[in-house]
Amino acid sequence: MELRLVHGSIIDVEADCIVVNLFEGVADPGGATGAVDHALDGYVRQLISDGEIKGKRGELTLVHTHGRITPKRVLVTGLGKRDQFNLTSVRTVSAEAARYLRRKGFSRVASIVHGAGIGGLEPEEAAQALAEGVLLGLYRFRRHFSKQDEDGGGEIDAFLVVEQNQTHAASVERGLDRGRIISEATALARDLVNEPGNYMTPTILAERAHAVADAHGLEYTCFERPQMEEMGMGALLGVASGSHQPPTFIILHYKGNPDNAESTVGLLGKGITFDSGGISIKPSANMSAMKGDMAGGASVIAAMQAIAQLKPAINVTALIPATENLPGGGATKPGDILVAMNKKTIEVENTDAEGRLILADALAYANSIGLSPLIDVATLTGAIRVALGTVAMGLFANDDTLAEHVLAAGEQSGEKMWRMPLWDEYKEQNKSSVADIKNTGGRDAGAITAAQFLHEFAGDTPWVHLDIASVSSSSTEKGWQVKGATGQPVRTLVNVIEALSHRS
Ligand code: BES
Ligand code: MN
Ligand code: ZN
Repeated sequence: MELRLVHGSIIDVEADCIVVNLFEGVADPGGATGAVDHALDGYVRQLISDGEIKGKRGELTLVHTHGRITPKRVLVTGLGKRDQFNLTSVRTVSAEAARYLRRKGFSRVASIVHGAGIGGLEPEEAAQALAEGVLLGLYRFRRHFSKQDEDGGGEIDAFLVVEQNQTHAASVERGLDRGRIISEATALARDLVNEPGNYMTPTILAERAHAVADAHGLEYTCFERPQMEEMGMGALLGVASGSHQPPTFIILHYKGNPDNAESTVGLLGKGITFDSGGISIKPSANMSAMKGDMAGGASVIAAMQAIAQLKPAINVTALIPATENLPGGGATKPGDILVAMNKKTIEVENTDAEGRLILADALAYANSIGLSPLIDVATLTGAIRVALGTVAMGLFANDDTLAEHVLAAGEQSGEKMWRMPLWDEYKEQNKSSVADIKNTGGRDAGAITAAQFLHEFAGDTPWVHLDIASVSSSSTEKGWQVKGATGQPVRTLVNVIEALSHRS
């Protein structure tokens, strides 16, 4: 689909349908909606006074124009209450309108930038949110169907964004570009996560990262088993030992600040391409969802793609330890003791707590090459979903300033995150009687003891851990999220890297 800015009046644009909007309670619309109403001899106002259009959030009203203006139809979208309107509303409204237009089978559509005029938002931010809403709302994962969708309409070929105000045109153009780059990255993360395990092995994940690196000018390296053995990555190797698929340790470098080469941010992502639980095997109901256990790794690879395109002045290295977690004959057994790269010994009480094992080696490696600060992203615990539902991811940090940066970036992207405590008291639960630490801390505070385990390997390096098991996939279609992988927290990671690049 082509998404582009067109200048001029919404009334003259060649399109099957144009999208305008209305705040709740407005009887006499201004701006583009007012202009359309005027050209239709007050028909929109008529529908409002008849109670047909109320402007409620989520409301969509299709109006035929009977040749009075160039576009054949107008879609009036409700923006809801003006005092609750923000960039998330723009994303939601744009996504829902775009899906409606696709269902209707329209191939060429146009929209104003919601919120840029009367809504009082910055035109660039509003245009970015519009692009994100449209592109992410229309996302579908249809690779493995042998036939095209039959009832879902066709595809929208052209989505034209109309800006009548010449002074806003350059900002809108910039916003659309940013929105496109960030949405394409989010869609990449979704694609990787949605792939089933047989199409997304550790080797394939590495190949996909390699392709991203080649396409966007990132440096790519990948450690294989011999290098992992040489470096002593016993925790990662311990998880990989139950599988026939070889593990990979994927590395991407973005060098946006070569003058300051010694300072590099580390983005780490859990890359379990399928989590059966290992010998501590999971129940079969819903085990298939564990094809998405590499969502952290996917979001880091995807964020690197957007970072390579947006080119902030900062160095970033991404580390993605990748393996399957399977109960093969060579598998790690409950009670086994593994030695991580930093020589810490780990009692494996439960082989299903594998994410923290592979991240232990990744964090130790990150520290060994001097990355700082560190941000890891992982579908780490079911417990975070018990704590926060599917509304927010959990954020854990050993550094308040870094935590604030990430929380602010999440605020900006609309990807909700909630800071959880990392008090020393929780370390008690990870104590082992036979090794330095054990990989489970019991039922209580499961997301916190998992984070506290990672903390042991992050050490004093400023570090944030995002537990995304609550938000990495969605069972419902809502706004810019569709069923399946959400692509969270790609947009937040991009924002945080940009924010860190501005911090001197
Ligand atoms: N990948 C899972 C966590 C998960 C659960 C992600 C649900 C997405 C949805 C992780 O490896 C896991 O199995 N965690 C265990 C830890 C327990 C054994 C201490 C869990 O949450 O049950
Ligand atoms: Mn597990
Ligand atoms: Zn897992």
